[in-house]
Amino acid sequence: PAPGWSIAADVVVVGSGVAGLTAALRCEAAGLTTVVVTKAHLDDGSTRWAQGGIAAALGEGDTPEQHLDDTLVAGAGLCDEEAVRILVTEGPDAVRRLIATGAHFDESSEGGLELTREGGHHRRRIAHAGGDATGAEISRALVEAVRARGLRTVENALVLDLLTDAEGRTAGVTLHVMGEGQHDGVGAVHAPAVVLATGGMGQVFSATTNPSVSTGDGVALALRAGAEVSDLEFVQFHPTVLFLGADAEGQQPLVSEAVRGEGAHLVDADGVRFMVGQHELAELAPRDIVAKGIMRRMQEQDAEHMFLDARHFGAAMWEHRFPTILAACRAHGIDPVHEPVPVAPAAHYASGGVRTDSRGRTTVPGLYACGEVACTGVHGANRLASNSLLEGLVYAERIAADIAAGPAENARHARVPQPVPQPEKPAHPLLAPEARFAIQRIMADGAGVLRSAESLAKAADRLQQLHTDARDALDENGKTAEPGVDTWEATNLLCVARVLVAAAQVREETRGCHWREDHADRDDTTWRRHIVVRLNPDRA
Ligand code: SIN
Repeated sequence: PAPGWSIAADVVVVGSGVAGLTAALRCEAAGLTTVVVTKAHLDDGSTRWAQGGIAAALGEGDTPEQHLDDTLVAGAGLCDEEAVRILVTEGPDAVRRLIATGAHFDESSEGGLELTREGGHHRRRIAHAGGDATGAEISRALVEAVRARGLRTVENALVLDLLTDAEGRTAGVTLHVMGEGQHDGVGAVHAPAVVLATGGMGQVFSATTNPSVSTGDGVALALRAGAEVSDLEFVQFHPTVLFLGADAEGQQPLVSEAVRGEGAHLVDADGVRFMVGQHELAELAPRDIVAKGIMRRMQEQDAEHMFLDARHFGAAMWEHRFPTILAACRAHGIDPVHEPVPVAPAAHYASGGVRTDSRGRTTVPGLYACGEVACTGVHGANRLASNSLLEGLVYAERIAADIAAGPAENARHARVPQPVPQPEKPAHPLLAPEARFAIQRIMADGAGVLRSAESLAKAADRLQQLHTDARDALDENGKTAEPGVDTWEATNLLCVARVLVAAAQVREETRGCHWREDHADRDDTTWRRHIVVRLNPDRA
Protein backbone atom coordinates (compact mmCIF):
# COMPACT_ATOMS: atom_id res chain seq x y z
CA PRO A 1 0.00 0.00 0.00
CA ALA A 2 1.14 3.57 -0.68
CA PRO A 3 2.23 5.47 2.46
CA GLY A 4 -0.16 8.20 3.64
CA TRP A 5 2.23 9.87 6.10
CA SER A 6 6.00 9.87 6.59
CA ILE A 7 8.77 10.69 9.03
CA ALA A 8 12.47 11.07 8.16
CA ALA A 9 15.33 9.91 10.40
CA ASP A 10 18.94 8.72 10.25
CA VAL A 11 18.00 5.34 11.70
CA VAL A 12 14.75 3.48 12.22
CA VAL A 13 14.82 0.64 14.74
CA VAL A 14 12.02 -1.89 14.35
CA GLY A 15 11.31 -3.62 17.66
CA SER A 16 11.72 -2.71 21.30
CA GLY A 17 13.29 -5.63 23.16
CA VAL A 18 16.82 -5.68 24.54
CA ALA A 19 18.36 -5.56 21.05
CA GLY A 20 16.14 -2.83 19.60
CA LEU A 21 16.27 -0.46 22.54
CA THR A 22 20.03 -0.94 23.02
CA ALA A 23 20.62 -0.17 19.34
CA ALA A 24 18.35 2.88 19.56
CA LEU A 25 20.00 4.25 22.71
CA ARG A 26 23.51 3.82 21.29
CA CYS A 27 22.55 5.37 17.93
CA GLU A 28 20.99 8.34 19.70
CA ALA A 29 24.07 8.73 21.90
CA ALA A 30 26.17 8.84 18.72
CA GLY A 31 24.13 11.82 17.52
CA LEU A 32 21.95 9.99 15.00
CA THR A 33 18.27 10.92 14.73
CA THR A 34 16.61 7.68 15.75
CA VAL A 35 13.01 6.50 15.61
CA VAL A 36 11.84 3.32 17.35
CA VAL A 37 8.78 1.62 15.92
CA THR A 38 7.16 -1.31 17.65
CA LYS A 39 4.15 -3.48 16.90
CA ALA A 40 2.42 -3.17 20.27
CA HIS A 41 3.84 -1.31 23.28
CA LEU A 42 7.49 -0.65 24.07
CA ASP A 43 7.61 -3.37 26.73
CA ASP A 44 5.75 -6.05 24.77
CA GLY A 45 7.82 -8.75 23.10
CA SER A 46 9.98 -11.59 24.36
CA THR A 47 12.58 -9.72 26.42
CA ARG A 48 10.29 -9.04 29.30
CA TRP A 49 9.44 -12.75 29.59
CA ALA A 50 13.07 -13.87 29.92
CA GLN A 51 13.52 -15.53 33.28
CA GLY A 52 16.87 -17.22 33.80
CA GLY A 53 19.15 -14.36 32.93
CA ILE A 54 22.07 -13.17 30.90
CA ALA A 55 25.26 -15.21 30.50
CA ALA A 56 28.71 -13.58 30.68
CA ALA A 57 32.09 -14.51 32.14
CA LEU A 58 31.72 -12.24 35.15
CA GLY A 59 32.44 -14.72 37.97
CA GLU A 60 35.70 -15.40 39.74
CA GLY A 61 37.79 -17.89 37.78
CA ASP A 62 35.52 -17.77 34.73
CA THR A 63 36.91 -16.61 31.38
CA PRO A 64 35.51 -15.74 27.96
CA GLU A 65 37.42 -18.77 26.65
CA GLN A 66 35.39 -21.13 28.87
CA HIS A 67 32.16 -19.40 27.84
CA LEU A 68 33.26 -19.82 24.22
CA ASP A 69 33.87 -23.56 24.73
CA ASP A 70 30.41 -24.13 26.23
CA THR A 71 28.75 -22.11 23.44
CA LEU A 72 30.55 -24.08 20.72
CA VAL A 73 29.63 -27.43 22.27
CA ALA A 74 25.94 -26.46 22.46
CA GLY A 75 26.04 -25.17 18.86
CA ALA A 76 26.88 -28.71 17.64
CA GLY A 77 29.49 -27.81 15.02
CA LEU A 78 27.65 -24.95 13.32
CA CYS A 79 28.65 -21.87 15.36
CA ASP A 80 30.70 -19.17 13.67
CA GLU A 81 33.65 -19.21 16.07
CA GLU A 82 34.60 -15.59 15.38
CA ALA A 83 31.04 -14.42 16.08
CA VAL A 84 31.06 -16.37 19.36
CA ARG A 85 34.46 -14.93 20.32
CA ILE A 86 33.06 -11.42 19.86
CA LEU A 87 30.02 -12.34 21.97
CA VAL A 88 31.97 -13.74 24.91
CA THR A 89 34.78 -11.17 24.95
CA GLU A 90 32.58 -8.08 24.52
CA GLY A 91 29.81 -9.57 26.68
CA PRO A 92 31.05 -8.72 30.18
CA ASP A 93 31.50 -5.01 29.38
CA ALA A 94 28.17 -4.90 27.56
CA VAL A 95 26.49 -6.22 30.74
CA ARG A 96 28.32 -3.57 32.80
CA ARG A 97 27.03 -0.88 30.40
CA LEU A 98 23.52 -2.29 30.78
CA ILE A 99 23.89 -1.93 34.54
CA ALA A 100 25.12 1.64 34.01
CA THR A 101 21.99 2.26 31.92
CA GLY A 102 19.92 1.41 34.98
CA ALA A 103 19.26 -2.35 35.15
CA HIS A 104 19.54 -3.78 38.67
CA PHE A 105 20.79 -7.36 38.95
CA ASP A 106 20.60 -9.57 42.04
CA GLU A 107 23.68 -9.36 44.25
CA SER A 108 25.20 -11.93 46.56
CA SER A 109 25.69 -11.28 50.28
CA GLU A 110 29.33 -10.31 49.49
CA GLY A 111 28.09 -7.56 47.18
CA GLY A 112 29.07 -8.87 43.72
CA LEU A 113 26.62 -10.19 41.14
CA GLU A 114 24.85 -13.38 42.19
CA LEU A 115 25.42 -15.87 39.37
CA THR A 116 23.53 -19.07 38.64
CA ARG A 117 23.95 -22.04 36.30
CA GLU A 118 21.87 -23.29 33.40
CA GLY A 119 22.05 -26.15 30.91
CA GLY A 120 25.35 -26.51 29.03
CA HIS A 121 27.29 -24.08 31.25
CA HIS A 122 30.16 -25.58 33.22
CA ARG A 123 30.22 -22.55 35.51
CA ARG A 124 27.95 -20.23 37.38
CA ARG A 125 27.81 -17.33 34.90
CA ILE A 126 24.16 -16.29 34.59
CA ALA A 127 23.35 -12.89 36.06
CA HIS A 128 19.69 -12.50 37.04
CA ALA A 129 17.29 -9.89 38.37
CA GLY A 130 14.27 -10.07 40.67
CA GLY A 131 15.06 -13.77 41.15
CA ASP A 132 13.52 -15.02 37.90
CA ALA A 133 12.35 -11.75 36.33
CA THR A 134 15.54 -10.76 34.51
CA GLY A 135 13.94 -9.75 31.23
CA ALA A 136 11.29 -7.64 32.94
CA GLU A 137 13.99 -5.66 34.75
CA ILE A 138 16.07 -5.19 31.59
CA SER A 139 12.99 -4.06 29.69
CA ARG A 140 12.02 -1.63 32.48
CA ALA A 141 15.49 -0.08 32.55
CA LEU A 142 15.77 0.30 28.77
CA VAL A 143 12.23 1.67 28.31
CA GLU A 144 12.92 4.22 31.07
CA ALA A 145 16.19 5.22 29.44
CA VAL A 146 14.52 5.64 26.04
CA ARG A 147 11.82 7.85 27.60
CA ALA A 148 14.37 9.84 29.61
CA ARG A 149 16.44 10.52 26.47
CA GLY A 150 13.30 11.63 24.63
CA LEU A 151 13.70 9.22 21.72
CA ARG A 152 10.92 9.33 19.20
CA THR A 153 8.82 6.17 19.40
CA VAL A 154 5.84 4.98 17.38
CA GLU A 155 3.83 2.23 19.11
CA ASN A 156 1.12 0.02 17.60
CA ALA A 157 3.12 0.18 14.38
CA LEU A 158 3.25 -3.05 12.41
CA VAL A 159 6.16 -3.06 9.99
CA LEU A 160 5.15 -4.03 6.46
CA ASP A 161 8.01 -3.81 3.99
CA LEU A 162 11.48 -2.44 3.39
CA LEU A 163 11.77 0.61 1.15
CA THR A 164 14.77 0.71 -1.16
CA ASP A 165 16.21 3.29 -3.53
CA ALA A 166 16.95 2.85 -7.21
CA GLU A 167 20.27 1.10 -6.38
CA GLY A 168 18.58 -1.38 -4.04
CA ARG A 169 19.89 0.28 -0.86
CA THR A 170 17.72 0.68 2.21
CA ALA A 171 15.56 3.80 2.25
CA GLY A 172 13.20 3.08 5.17
CA VAL A 173 10.18 0.96 6.03
CA THR A 174 6.44 1.12 5.51
CA LEU A 175 4.23 0.72 8.56
CA HIS A 176 0.62 0.14 9.41
CA VAL A 177 -0.21 2.13 12.54
CA MET A 178 -3.44 1.54 14.38
CA GLY A 179 -5.11 3.90 16.78
CA GLU A 180 -2.23 6.37 17.06
CA GLY A 181 -4.16 9.40 15.88
CA GLN A 182 -1.21 11.40 14.59
CA HIS A 183 0.10 8.52 12.46
CA ASP A 184 -2.95 6.45 11.77
CA GLY A 185 -3.00 4.08 8.80
CA VAL A 186 -0.22 3.17 6.38
CA GLY A 187 2.86 5.39 6.50
CA ALA A 188 6.61 5.29 6.22
CA VAL A 189 9.77 6.14 8.08
CA HIS A 190 12.41 7.18 5.55
CA ALA A 191 15.91 6.37 6.77
CA PRO A 192 19.12 5.11 5.15
CA ALA A 193 19.62 2.60 7.98
CA VAL A 194 16.98 0.16 9.22
CA VAL A 195 17.69 -2.04 12.24
CA LEU A 196 15.45 -5.11 12.44
CA ALA A 197 15.02 -6.19 16.05
CA THR A 198 11.59 -7.74 15.77
CA GLY A 199 12.31 -10.87 17.86
CA GLY A 200 11.34 -14.44 17.10
CA MET A 201 8.69 -16.56 15.46
CA GLY A 202 7.59 -18.95 18.23
CA GLN A 203 3.94 -18.32 17.36
CA VAL A 204 4.45 -20.46 14.28
CA PHE A 205 3.85 -23.42 16.67
CA SER A 206 0.73 -23.98 18.73
CA ALA A 207 2.55 -24.26 22.07
CA THR A 208 5.36 -21.80 22.71
CA THR A 209 6.91 -19.72 25.45
CA ASN A 210 6.81 -16.71 23.10
CA PRO A 211 4.25 -13.92 23.47
CA SER A 212 1.56 -13.50 20.81
CA VAL A 213 3.55 -10.75 19.04
CA SER A 214 6.37 -13.18 18.06
CA THR A 215 5.16 -13.87 14.53
CA GLY A 216 8.35 -13.75 12.47
CA ASP A 217 7.59 -10.30 11.02
CA GLY A 218 11.26 -9.35 10.61
CA VAL A 219 12.26 -12.58 8.87
CA ALA A 220 9.23 -12.31 6.55
CA LEU A 221 10.10 -8.69 5.73
CA ALA A 222 13.72 -9.65 5.05
CA LEU A 223 12.65 -12.52 2.79
CA ARG A 224 10.33 -10.21 0.83
CA ALA A 225 13.21 -7.71 0.53
CA GLY A 226 15.52 -10.35 -0.92
CA ALA A 227 17.84 -10.61 2.12
CA GLU A 228 19.48 -13.91 3.01
CA VAL A 229 18.01 -15.94 5.85
CA SER A 230 19.89 -18.83 7.43
CA ASP A 231 19.42 -21.82 9.80
CA LEU A 232 15.61 -21.54 10.12
CA GLU A 233 15.34 -25.29 10.74
CA PHE A 234 17.03 -24.88 14.13
CA VAL A 235 14.06 -24.15 16.38
CA GLN A 236 14.92 -24.58 20.02
CA PHE A 237 12.33 -26.35 22.15
CA HIS A 238 12.68 -25.42 25.80
CA PRO A 239 12.65 -28.66 27.82
CA THR A 240 10.68 -27.45 30.82
CA VAL A 241 7.52 -25.55 29.99
CA LEU A 242 4.59 -25.86 32.39
CA PHE A 243 2.30 -28.55 30.96
CA LEU A 244 -1.25 -27.24 30.73
CA GLY A 245 -2.78 -30.07 28.71
CA ALA A 246 -2.07 -31.61 25.30
CA ASP A 247 -4.41 -29.11 23.58
CA ALA A 248 -3.05 -25.97 25.26
CA GLU A 249 -2.36 -23.23 22.70
CA GLY A 250 -0.52 -19.93 22.57
CA GLN A 251 2.01 -18.66 25.10
CA GLN A 252 2.79 -21.21 27.85
CA PRO A 253 4.55 -20.44 31.17
CA LEU A 254 8.28 -21.15 31.20
CA VAL A 255 9.94 -22.97 34.09
CA SER A 256 13.46 -21.58 33.86
CA GLU A 257 16.56 -23.72 33.46
CA ALA A 258 17.80 -21.86 36.49
CA VAL A 259 15.43 -24.01 38.58
CA ARG A 260 17.52 -27.00 37.46
CA GLY A 261 20.64 -24.85 37.88
CA GLU A 262 19.75 -24.54 41.57
CA GLY A 263 19.25 -28.31 41.92
CA ALA A 264 15.77 -29.34 40.75
CA HIS A 265 15.46 -32.89 39.36
CA LEU A 266 13.65 -34.12 36.28
CA VAL A 267 11.69 -37.26 37.13
CA ASP A 268 9.42 -39.56 35.17
CA ALA A 269 5.96 -40.87 36.03
CA ASP A 270 7.60 -43.34 38.48
CA GLY A 271 9.68 -40.64 40.15
CA VAL A 272 12.95 -41.85 38.51
CA ARG A 273 15.66 -39.29 37.56
CA PHE A 274 15.98 -40.29 33.91
CA MET A 275 18.67 -37.77 32.84
CA VAL A 276 21.26 -39.26 35.18
CA GLY A 277 23.58 -41.45 33.12
CA GLN A 278 22.49 -39.88 29.80
CA HIS A 279 24.99 -36.99 29.97
CA GLU A 280 27.78 -35.97 32.37
CA LEU A 281 25.74 -32.86 33.27
CA ALA A 282 22.48 -34.85 33.76
CA GLU A 283 19.60 -32.31 34.07
CA LEU A 284 22.05 -29.53 33.13
CA ALA A 285 23.04 -30.99 29.76
CA PRO A 286 22.55 -28.66 26.77
CA ARG A 287 18.93 -27.91 26.08
CA ASP A 288 18.46 -30.14 23.02
CA ILE A 289 19.76 -33.16 24.91
CA VAL A 290 17.40 -32.57 27.84
CA ALA A 291 14.44 -31.95 25.49
CA LYS A 292 15.21 -35.20 23.66
CA GLY A 293 15.64 -37.06 26.97
CA ILE A 294 12.21 -35.86 28.06
CA MET A 295 10.56 -36.75 24.73
CA ARG A 296 12.10 -40.23 24.72
CA ARG A 297 10.92 -41.01 28.26
CA MET A 298 7.47 -39.61 27.42
CA GLN A 299 7.31 -42.04 24.47
CA GLU A 300 8.53 -44.96 26.59
CA GLN A 301 5.95 -44.29 29.27
CA ASP A 302 3.23 -43.15 26.87
CA ALA A 303 3.04 -40.00 28.99
CA GLU A 304 2.08 -36.45 28.00
CA HIS A 305 4.67 -34.84 30.26
CA MET A 306 7.44 -35.44 32.79
CA PHE A 307 7.92 -33.72 36.17
CA LEU A 308 10.34 -31.20 37.62
CA ASP A 309 10.80 -31.87 41.30
CA ALA A 310 12.07 -29.01 43.47
CA ARG A 311 10.11 -29.63 46.64
CA HIS A 312 13.44 -29.75 48.51
CA PHE A 313 13.93 -25.99 47.83
CA GLY A 314 11.31 -25.25 50.49
CA ALA A 315 8.90 -22.33 50.52
CA ALA A 316 11.43 -19.61 51.40
CA MET A 317 13.73 -20.38 48.49
CA TRP A 318 10.87 -20.67 46.01
CA GLU A 319 9.50 -17.31 47.15
CA HIS A 320 12.84 -15.52 47.13
CA ARG A 321 14.53 -17.04 44.09
CA PHE A 322 11.67 -17.97 41.73
CA PRO A 323 8.68 -15.77 42.58
CA THR A 324 7.46 -15.48 38.95
CA ILE A 325 7.48 -19.23 38.34
CA LEU A 326 5.91 -19.94 41.74
CA ALA A 327 3.07 -17.52 40.97
CA ALA A 328 2.54 -18.96 37.46
CA CYS A 329 2.38 -22.53 38.82
CA ARG A 330 0.01 -21.59 41.62
CA ALA A 331 -2.21 -19.70 39.17
CA HIS A 332 -2.64 -23.05 37.40
CA GLY A 333 -3.34 -24.96 40.60
CA ILE A 334 0.13 -26.49 41.07
CA ASP A 335 2.18 -25.82 44.20
CA PRO A 336 5.88 -26.57 43.50
CA VAL A 337 6.67 -26.36 47.22
CA HIS A 338 4.57 -29.47 47.83
CA GLU A 339 4.35 -31.30 44.49
CA PRO A 340 6.46 -31.92 41.36
CA VAL A 341 5.65 -29.61 38.45
CA PRO A 342 4.37 -31.20 35.19
CA VAL A 343 6.60 -30.08 32.30
CA ALA A 344 7.01 -30.77 28.57
CA PRO A 345 9.06 -29.17 25.77
CA ALA A 346 7.58 -26.26 23.77
CA ALA A 347 8.92 -23.97 21.02
CA HIS A 348 11.15 -21.34 22.57
CA TYR A 349 13.78 -19.75 20.35
CA ALA A 350 14.69 -19.35 16.68
CA SER A 351 18.43 -20.02 16.48
CA GLY A 352 18.39 -18.98 12.83
CA GLY A 353 17.13 -15.79 11.23
CA VAL A 354 18.26 -12.97 8.96
CA ARG A 355 21.90 -13.61 8.10
CA THR A 356 24.34 -10.93 9.27
CA ASP A 357 28.05 -10.33 9.47
CA SER A 358 29.90 -9.39 12.65
CA ARG A 359 28.69 -5.78 12.35
CA GLY A 360 25.06 -6.82 12.10
CA ARG A 361 24.87 -6.04 8.38
CA THR A 362 22.46 -8.15 6.34
CA THR A 363 22.94 -8.83 2.64
CA VAL A 364 20.80 -5.76 1.75
CA PRO A 365 22.88 -2.55 2.08
CA GLY A 366 21.68 -0.42 4.98
CA LEU A 367 19.52 -3.19 6.49
CA TYR A 368 20.78 -4.51 9.85
CA ALA A 369 19.44 -7.20 12.16
CA CYS A 370 20.09 -8.04 15.82
CA GLY A 371 18.55 -10.14 18.57
CA GLU A 372 16.41 -13.18 17.87
CA VAL A 373 15.48 -12.07 14.35
CA ALA A 374 19.15 -12.23 13.34
CA CYS A 375 21.44 -15.14 12.56
CA THR A 376 24.86 -13.79 13.55
CA GLY A 377 26.30 -17.29 13.75
CA VAL A 378 26.68 -17.40 17.54
CA HIS A 379 24.06 -20.08 18.16
CA GLY A 380 24.85 -22.64 15.47
CA ALA A 381 22.49 -25.58 15.66
CA ASN A 382 21.43 -24.92 19.25
CA ARG A 383 21.66 -21.80 21.40
CA LEU A 384 23.35 -22.03 24.78
CA ALA A 385 20.99 -20.96 27.58
CA SER A 386 20.99 -17.23 28.40
CA ASN A 387 23.17 -16.27 25.45
CA SER A 388 20.25 -14.54 23.73
CA LEU A 389 19.95 -11.41 25.88
CA LEU A 390 23.73 -11.14 25.64
CA GLU A 391 23.69 -11.46 21.85
CA GLY A 392 21.00 -8.78 21.64
CA LEU A 393 23.17 -6.41 23.69
CA VAL A 394 26.52 -7.05 22.05
CA TYR A 395 25.41 -7.03 18.44
CA ALA A 396 23.06 -4.04 18.90
CA GLU A 397 26.06 -2.06 20.15
CA ARG A 398 28.12 -3.18 17.18
CA ILE A 399 25.36 -2.11 14.77
CA ALA A 400 25.14 1.35 16.36
CA ALA A 401 28.92 1.69 16.08
CA ASP A 402 28.82 0.68 12.42
CA ILE A 403 26.04 3.11 11.54
CA ALA A 404 27.69 5.92 13.48
CA ALA A 405 31.02 5.31 11.74
CA GLY A 406 29.03 5.19 8.51
CA PRO A 407 30.85 5.86 5.30
CA ALA A 408 28.98 6.91 2.21
CA GLU A 409 26.57 4.02 2.27
CA ASN A 410 25.15 5.12 5.61
CA ALA A 411 25.07 8.80 4.62
CA ARG A 412 22.89 10.77 6.97
CA HIS A 413 20.26 11.81 4.52
CA ALA A 414 17.20 9.90 3.53
CA ARG A 415 17.39 8.24 0.15
CA VAL A 416 14.60 8.64 -2.32
CA PRO A 417 12.54 5.47 -2.03
CA GLN A 418 11.25 3.69 -5.07
CA PRO A 419 7.46 3.57 -5.25
CA VAL A 420 6.18 0.54 -3.35
CA PRO A 421 5.49 -2.13 -6.00
CA GLN A 422 1.84 -3.04 -6.37
CA PRO A 423 1.85 -6.34 -8.28
CA GLU A 424 -1.42 -7.36 -9.79
CA LYS A 425 -1.38 -10.66 -7.96
CA PRO A 426 0.91 -10.41 -4.92
CA ALA A 427 3.04 -13.49 -4.23
CA HIS A 428 2.10 -13.20 -0.55
CA PRO A 429 -1.67 -12.53 -0.49
CA LEU A 430 -2.99 -11.50 2.91
CA LEU A 431 -4.36 -14.44 4.87
CA ALA A 432 -7.50 -14.42 6.96
CA PRO A 433 -6.66 -14.20 10.71
CA GLU A 434 -7.94 -17.77 11.38
CA ALA A 435 -5.14 -19.14 9.18
CA ARG A 436 -2.81 -18.53 12.15
CA PHE A 437 -4.32 -21.45 14.06
CA ALA A 438 -4.19 -23.76 11.06
CA ILE A 439 -0.50 -22.92 10.55
CA GLN A 440 0.29 -23.54 14.24
CA ARG A 441 -1.41 -26.94 14.18
CA ILE A 442 0.32 -27.96 10.93
CA MET A 443 3.72 -26.99 12.35
CA ALA A 444 3.13 -28.72 15.68
CA ASP A 445 2.07 -31.92 13.88
CA GLY A 446 4.80 -31.99 11.25
CA ALA A 447 7.79 -29.83 12.20
CA GLY A 448 7.94 -29.95 16.01
CA VAL A 449 10.52 -31.59 18.27
CA LEU A 450 10.39 -34.81 16.22
CA ARG A 451 10.51 -34.57 12.45
CA SER A 452 10.68 -37.01 9.53
CA ALA A 453 10.57 -36.79 5.74
CA GLU A 454 6.96 -37.94 5.93
CA SER A 455 5.81 -35.47 8.60
CA LEU A 456 7.61 -32.58 6.90
CA ALA A 457 6.22 -33.40 3.46
CA LYS A 458 2.72 -33.42 4.91
CA ALA A 459 3.33 -30.08 6.61
CA ALA A 460 4.72 -28.60 3.37
CA ASP A 461 1.66 -29.76 1.42
CA ARG A 462 -0.80 -28.37 3.95
CA LEU A 463 1.03 -25.01 4.07
CA GLN A 464 1.11 -24.88 0.27
CA GLN A 465 -2.65 -25.48 0.27
CA LEU A 466 -3.21 -22.51 2.59
CA HIS A 467 -1.12 -20.36 0.24
CA THR A 468 -2.94 -21.59 -2.86
CA ASP A 469 -6.34 -21.03 -1.26
CA ALA A 470 -5.39 -17.46 -0.37
CA ARG A 471 -4.14 -16.76 -3.89
CA ASP A 472 -7.26 -18.25 -5.43
CA ALA A 473 -9.39 -16.08 -3.19
CA LEU A 474 -7.84 -12.87 -4.50
CA ASP A 475 -10.62 -10.74 -5.87
CA GLU A 476 -10.20 -8.64 -8.95
CA ASN A 477 -8.68 -5.78 -6.91
CA GLY A 478 -5.89 -8.10 -5.81
CA LYS A 479 -7.15 -8.06 -2.24
CA THR A 480 -8.06 -10.91 0.06
CA ALA A 481 -8.41 -10.22 3.76
CA GLU A 482 -8.71 -6.66 5.06
CA PRO A 483 -5.19 -5.42 5.98
CA GLY A 484 -4.67 -5.38 9.75
CA VAL A 485 -2.31 -6.73 12.40
CA ASP A 486 -3.94 -10.15 12.50
CA THR A 487 -3.99 -10.61 8.71
CA TRP A 488 -0.37 -9.47 8.34
CA GLU A 489 0.70 -11.71 11.23
CA ALA A 490 -0.98 -14.75 9.67
CA THR A 491 0.65 -13.90 6.33
CA ASN A 492 4.10 -13.55 7.91
CA LEU A 493 3.67 -16.80 9.85
CA LEU A 494 2.88 -18.67 6.64
CA CYS A 495 5.90 -17.14 4.90
CA VAL A 496 8.37 -18.18 7.64
CA ALA A 497 6.70 -21.56 8.22
CA ARG A 498 7.15 -22.54 4.57
CA VAL A 499 10.84 -21.65 4.58
CA LEU A 500 11.39 -23.37 7.94
CA VAL A 501 9.78 -26.59 6.71
CA ALA A 502 11.72 -26.49 3.44
CA ALA A 503 15.01 -26.12 5.34
CA ALA A 504 14.07 -28.94 7.72
CA GLN A 505 13.29 -31.18 4.74
CA VAL A 506 16.65 -30.48 3.16
CA ARG A 507 18.71 -31.16 6.32
CA GLU A 508 18.72 -34.95 6.37
CA GLU A 509 20.50 -35.46 9.67
CA THR A 510 19.96 -34.91 13.38
CA ARG A 511 21.97 -32.03 14.80
CA GLY A 512 21.42 -29.67 17.71
CA CYS A 513 17.76 -28.86 18.02
CA HIS A 514 16.87 -30.34 14.59
CA TRP A 515 15.80 -33.92 15.27
CA ARG A 516 15.01 -36.17 12.30
CA GLU A 517 13.59 -39.55 13.30
CA ASP A 518 14.50 -40.89 9.85
CA HIS A 519 18.11 -39.59 10.01
CA ALA A 520 19.04 -40.25 13.60
CA ASP A 521 22.74 -39.32 13.41
CA ARG A 522 24.79 -36.21 12.94
CA ASP A 523 26.42 -36.23 9.51
CA ASP A 524 29.51 -34.03 9.51
CA THR A 525 30.59 -35.17 6.06
CA THR A 526 27.56 -33.70 4.30
CA TRP A 527 25.92 -31.34 6.74
CA ARG A 528 28.51 -29.28 8.55
CA ARG A 529 27.15 -26.30 6.66
CA HIS A 530 24.28 -23.85 6.64
CA ILE A 531 21.05 -23.72 4.69
CA VAL A 532 20.75 -20.18 3.37
CA VAL A 533 17.54 -19.01 1.70
CA ARG A 534 17.00 -15.96 -0.44
CA LEU A 535 13.71 -15.29 -2.21
CA ASN A 536 13.56 -13.45 -5.48
CA PRO A 537 12.22 -10.01 -4.43
CA ASP A 538 10.55 -9.54 -7.82
CA ARG A 539 8.32 -12.48 -7.04
CA ALA A 540 7.78 -11.67 -3.38
C1 SIN B 1 15.36 -20.02 30.96
O1 SIN B 1 15.29 -19.25 31.90
O2 SIN B 1 15.37 -21.24 31.06
C2 SIN B 1 15.44 -19.46 29.58
C3 SIN B 1 16.79 -18.98 29.33
C4 SIN B 1 17.03 -18.92 27.87
O3 SIN B 1 16.16 -19.23 27.06
O4 SIN B 1 18.17 -18.60 27.51
